[in-house]
Amino acid sequence: MAENRFIPFSRPWIDDTEIEAVSQVLASKWISTGNRTREFERAFAEYLGAKHAIAVSSCTAALHLSLVVAEIGSGDEVITTPYTFTATAEAIRYVGAKPVFVDIHPDTLNIDTRKIEQAITPRTKAILPVHIAGFPCDMDALLDISQNHNLRLIDDAAHAIPAEYKEQYIGTLGDLSAFSFYANKNLTTGEGGMITTNNDAFAKLLRTMRLHGIDKDAWARQSQRNIWRYDIATEGYKYNMTDIQAAMGLCQLMKLNKQHERRRNFAQIYQTELAKFPQISTPVSPDNPREHAWHLYIIQLQNGNRDAFVESLSEANIECSVHYIPLHLFDFYQDQYGYQVGDFPCAESAFERVVSLPLHPGLTEEDIHIVIDAIGKVLES
Ligand SMILES: Cc1ncc(COP(=O)(O)O)c(C=O)c1O
Repeated sequence: MAENRFIPFSRPWIDDTEIEAVSQVLASKWISTGNRTREFERAFAEYLGAKHAIAVSSCTAALHLSLVVAEIGSGDEVITTPYTFTATAEAIRYVGAKPVFVDIHPDTLNIDTRKIEQAITPRTKAILPVHIAGFPCDMDALLDISQNHNLRLIDDAAHAIPAEYKEQYIGTLGDLSAFSFYANKNLTTGEGGMITTNNDAFAKLLRTMRLHGIDKDAWARQSQRNIWRYDIATEGYKYNMTDIQAAMGLCQLMKLNKQHERRRNFAQIYQTELAKFPQISTPVSPDNPREHAWHLYIIQLQNGNRDAFVESLSEANIECSVHYIPLHLFDFYQDQYGYQVGDFPCAESAFERVVSLPLHPGLTEEDIHIVIDAIGKVLES
């Protein structure tokens, strides 16, 4: 196969704007949580139309704190998907609760809402869905089930900015939503996360808990006379965001629509061109009322060897990935909860066949066509 230029799977979309904004924070000498973090929170909440946004150090921290304020604890059960990154279930473990997996819908790769009610027990306290790749879950069904069974709805929106459901952004519909700003995400601050909620009491508690349970952070205290005095109002964690991250986040938020347009355009080209290959199924196209965030572009091979397919693309200088190895296939989740191979057949079958193709705003249409041509050659051979 002729050699192509290297096409990376993912790259952050950073330019001089972020470099300048971060330099200004460094020069200001106020580098931890301060004014920039507050600005970022306000701008993020305003963008989504959420009442509150609370900036934290990661999405994992956002999930953990959300579970804490929702009063999920030891012996409780939280329904989630096995088809996700380990952070989703790991956060449930942090509060001493059990992640109860429910299989996915084979088309969307999101939790199959038709199977949730069978998994509800008297110990169930919350549902924690994940909008895989940025495709919004069936929020109407999730809201109905959570309301009917008096459960909290906490969504893992790590992939889902900006995703919409019935013209409302993901991050405004459940009790609490957790976003990731990790290096490969649609909006990145290197590491970082955000919790959105419309619940005033949750927001107040989250602001205190993310910084050791201290009633006023350093920025709030520096304008006071007794700068050193503070109270510990509640249990706390070291989960605050720095102004260095927030300055970067503000720049990324300004570019969010533009990067989404680029992702959507590339995804559309993949959708049209890959539909010509019967050996591949492309992601379900979001029709009204859902808008895909296009964080990942996941195809499924109808047959053949997925690992060999990924290897052949790698030989053609095209970097791909696989999302996800279902959690119940890992030793840890099997040892802890007795999950076994065969428990979630849709997740397992998807895992055997999925490939995530390069998708990020730094690519060009030409790059996308190089990937498509390479896929054609691999399928021919
Ligand atoms: C679905 C999902 N949830 C949670 C996380 C954790 O995010 P973070 O690295 O910001 O803690 C990730 C990270 O990739 C993820 O993909």
